Amino acid sequence: MIQKIKGTMDILPEETPLFRYMEGIMREEAEKYGFGEIRTPTFENTELFVRGVGDTTDVVQKEMYTFADRDEGRSITLRPEGTASVARALIENGRYGDPMPLKYYYIINCFRHEAPQAGRSREFFQFGTEMFGADSPAADATSIALAASVLRRLGLKNVKLHLNSIGCKSCRPNYRGALVEYYKSHESEICDTCKKRLVTNPLRLLDCKNPECAALAAAAPRTLDHLCPDCRAHFDSLCRMLDAMGVEYVIDPAIVRGLDYYTRTVFEFVAEGIGAQSTVCGGGRYDGLVEELGGPALPGIGFAMGLTRLVLAMRECGTADIEPARPVLYIAALGARAAECALGITERLRREGHIVECDLMGRSLKAQMKYANKKGARYTLILGDNEIDTGVAALRDMERSEQREVRLADFTL
Ligand code: HAM
Repeated sequence: MIQKIKGTMDILPEETPLFRYMEGIMREEAEKYGFGEIRTPTFENTELFVRGVGDTTDVVQKEMYTFADRDEGRSITLRPEGTASVARALIENGRYGDPMPLKYYYIINCFRHEAPQAGRSREFFQFGTEMFGADSPAADATSIALAASVLRRLGLKNVKLHLNSIGCKSCRPNYRGALVEYYKSHESEICDTCKKRLVTNPLRLLDCKNPECAALAAAAPRTLDHLCPDCRAHFDSLCRMLDAMGVEYVIDPAIVRGLDYYTRTVFEFVAEGIGAQSTVCGGGRYDGLVEELGGPALPGIGFAMGLTRLVLAMRECGTADIEPARPVLYIAALGARAAECALGITERLRREGHIVECDLMGRSLKAQMKYANKKGARYTLILGDNEIDTGVAALRDMERSEQREVRLADFTL
């Protein structure tokens, strides 16, 4: 038996209505806020993520699905996230003449070679938004409000917004200095990877999962205490705007995010009661990314939320039961003439826009009615020789247990 790859999933017809319901809300909300959908390729040149996401991040170092293309020596990677691809697309398509800010959203599959567990898989699905060209805190507040609005409409009452600022190019060196000094005095207590991080990218020490490193991270210097006046003012203004917009948050200095492109605002929405993988949405500002990828200096802000984690959170809140669409009518038929007539009526009603089914298996009347019941058909119509001869049949309302006569030639629902 060939089985699916570890860490991937089949989403079956009973489950797709929930995903489509969620995706519908995401699209509606994104479009309400003026975002347009963008679709980028599933794979990109590896270099894009190495430069965009950062070569010292866990995503790039340990988690990417990277392979040599059949073309000579080219290295390709299945996208581990959407932001770098969207930035590349905007540069490659030269969208600088469009009205600013540029606002894009996407619903995509992503790939990361992580240890699978509840809420963490190797192929997963993200809804994300990216806004380019606006560096004002109003852009951050609007992106965050959009994320909050989607989560609200999904019925998530168990989610909290954690907010932080990690500063910019000018205050980062100052903070990095304080961080290195702190960790140097604890060097014997940190894991081997963190010893390397101390040299390559000290900020990454803060999101090490090793328990001892995590304990040290909790007591480490905080970015918020090292912000330059501009970053401080940006953050304070963002907080006031969120207050004005009625978006609740907690300031959490522990949020640093695992990807290198972030500057200033970073945030995560964390759900209670869904286990260890509780971050349903993560995002932040990335003011240097477009330039890093060869474009102009264009600031950016965005977020992405993981659909399977949202499903876990919705189950926890009791909002995940979305019914699949049911047939409005099932036409049962006995005999060859009735079967042909049933097919004709079925097709006619489908063209009128209704969900209608009839027998395709040559089954007994009893078996056909059992099928109609299982599929939850609202009405049934039983056709035999008598109905074909008279052109009249009984349309039965299964919910009300009533029936009425209809003319086969032209009845509608
Ligand atoms: P991220 O925090 O790496 O950020 O991922 C965003 C969300 O995707 C996570 O909060 C989580 O819900 C979901 N997710 C991540 N990895 C997995 C996984 N292995 N299995 C299931 N769900 C997962 C980004 O990807 C950034 N691009 C977000 C962003 C957009 N920042 C600015 N713009």
